[in-house]
Amino acid sequence: MTQARPDTELTPAEQQYPLPPSLLDKSVYTDPDRYQREITEIFHHAWFPVHPSSDVAHPRDYVVWDQIGQSVVITRLPDGTVSAWHNVCQHRGARLVDGSGNCGNARFTCPWHGFVYGLDGTLGSVPLRDSFDAAELAGLRAPAVRGEEWGGWIWLCFSDDVPPLREYLGRIGDELAGYGLEGFTTRFRKSVALKANWKIVVDAFNETWHVPFTHKDTLAGLVMWRDAVLKITPPHTWMTLPIRGFTDKAVHNGDHRTSHLCHYLAFPNTIFSCFPTHLQMWSAWPISVGETLLSAYEVVGPPPNGMAAEKWERHNQRDWDQFLEVLEEDSKVINDFAGVIGSLGFTRNMFNTAESRLTAFHEEIAKRLGEGAPR
Ligand code: FES
Ligand SMILES: [Fe+2]
Repeated sequence: MTQARPDTELTPAEQQYPLPPSLLDKSVYTDPDRYQREITEIFHHAWFPVHPSSDVAHPRDYVVWDQIGQSVVITRLPDGTVSAWHNVCQHRGARLVDGSGNCGNARFTCPWHGFVYGLDGTLGSVPLRDSFDAAELAGLRAPAVRGEEWGGWIWLCFSDDVPPLREYLGRIGDELAGYGLEGFTTRFRKSVALKANWKIVVDAFNETWHVPFTHKDTLAGLVMWRDAVLKITPPHTWMTLPIRGFTDKAVHNGDHRTSHLCHYLAFPNTIFSCFPTHLQMWSAWPISVGETLLSAYEVVGPPPNGMAAEKWERHNQRDWDQFLEVLEEDSKVINDFAGVIGSLGFTRNMFNTAESRLTAFHEEIAKRLGEGAPR
């Protein structure tokens, strides 16, 4: 296992690229049994942001989240807090709620036999109540899911053995806290289905040296990829990246967030790519061993330095349009994996030091699966 050492012990080259080269067997992307273990051992024991808080802005607003084989109802309670619970009827397991909206009567009625649930998932009225075993009905509810609201997002966690969200996020939580994300607004969103394992998708966004090739007509002139500095703070990773036209004009006050694009992977599957005034956030949701849904958002702060609202809006629209163009370039490469993933001519990845974040990411997964270090 490669250990991340403190910054002070690293040479300048190691401070930029902290881990040595590594190898990774291709089967981690193709083995259906491992895929299932990743869902139960990793996704069921992590925090992830699932919806912008503004999707349930008002009391009785609700939204249903369906990913990784789970369905969760998220509601805004009258006291302003958020409630999250499994979207499954406790009678015979029917799906309770669809879509999103405002639940005017604060009740959700099962479409099958009419069990009624409150905004917080507690069971209310039951048709033919006397015909049930009363002991089974006592205290019954749609089981709660751990939820926290932070940074403008609703985060979920399916396990009790994971620390509270801010403790889980550790250093990258401290980093993200500095942006004031609670005051930002989700401006654009898009989901794209990709024909590759979820880890291929995450890998694709955690190194920058593909920029001059994959993005030669879009990002190559902007992203100073040679000067990316990678950080390993397990289980998460991040990097600071200078951007032409931004970093050269920024105030350099010792806080990289004001002068660099800062790019955080909240383990396992969510990236926050942050400028001081706006960010893109995207999550890779596993669909099957060879399919992934990428959900992407553009989140914007108030207009910077007194900029007129219309100008800021145009800027955000341009930023999003460029993001979609870049995403299409990445998607082409990612989708083309489908045609060669079974190739007898490729058996293992070799990661270089510029891909230290990928090495760290796969080591974290291997550790959680009890596999030891990747070969
Ligand atoms: S399955 Fe919901 S009431 Fe029967
Ligand atoms: Fe890319």
